[in-house]
Amino acid sequence: MSTEGKIRAVTTHRLMEMKQRGEKIAMLTAYDFSTARIMDEAGMDVILVGDSAANVMAGFDSTLPITLDQMIYHAQSVVRAVKRALVVVDLPFGTYQGNSKQALESAVRVMKETGASALKLEGGLEIVESVQRILSAGIPIMGHLGLTPQSINKFGTYSVRAREEAEAVKLAEDAMLLERTGCFSVVFEKIPAELAARVSASLTIPTISIGAGGGCDGQVLVVHDMLGITNEFSPRFLRRYADLYGEMTRAFKGYLADVKSGDFPNEGEQY
Ligand code: KIV
Repeated sequence: MSTEGKIRAVTTHRLMEMKQRGEKIAMLTAYDFSTARIMDEAGMDVILVGDSAANVMAGFDSTLPITLDQMIYHAQSVVRAVKRALVVVDLPFGTYQGNSKQALESAVRVMKETGASALKLEGGLEIVESVQRILSAGIPIMGHLGLTPQSINKFGTYSVRAREEAEAVKLAEDAMLLERTGCFSVVFEKIPAELAARVSASLTIPTISIGAGGGCDGQVLVVHDMLGITNEFSPRFLRRYADLYGEMTRAFKGYLADVKSGDFPNEGEQY
């Protein structure tokens, strides 16, 4: 049978191979069908249905309020669009911490109801029982260390993590633990680049950076930030690839003016 025209899907195994041959992994968040389709067709390696949906889709000031049902809705929309990228879904706050039985139930629901390929969980040693139990069901897990937004009430701020020696040591130990337990990858959020590069080099699983520098095996950004829709959010690590806030404002104003003036619709735009 010809393999011509067949799409070779990205798998957790392929991400490992990418790390081994030094090919960087490109990951972005998506929460809806239309954006995920454009992203997948552009060739993105990994699409994360992040709980940052709570911020950029729903307008909350933290990721804590988003529910499992809402994450499942977003993930279903993304999975319907994606043919090639690996789709990873965040387990939201309150669905896996401190209770590994509940963690497995949450994980199984997401996998059964969305068709996604993997899950992401925040934390190290504190959540290792949940990680083990989910992995035992054959569900791949991406870890997330450093700034973990679901713990914002513990940290108090969204500033850079693991600048102090003790926290840096714990992060390195947690990363090793996640690898040993069987996670296929780990996100490092907002930690010093030197620490991220050092820990990354000591791991065999790929590391993905958001504000953790170029020494990781891949990069992730929130799509609304890199497209310049959230124009008030400007952390140092963010590179903007478009100014959709400006573009959309121009389009909305143009439409408004055309409707008010009677210019839209014209003869050719009606039946
Ligand atoms: O929810 C999210 O968007 C994330 C990324 C910031 C990694 O977890």
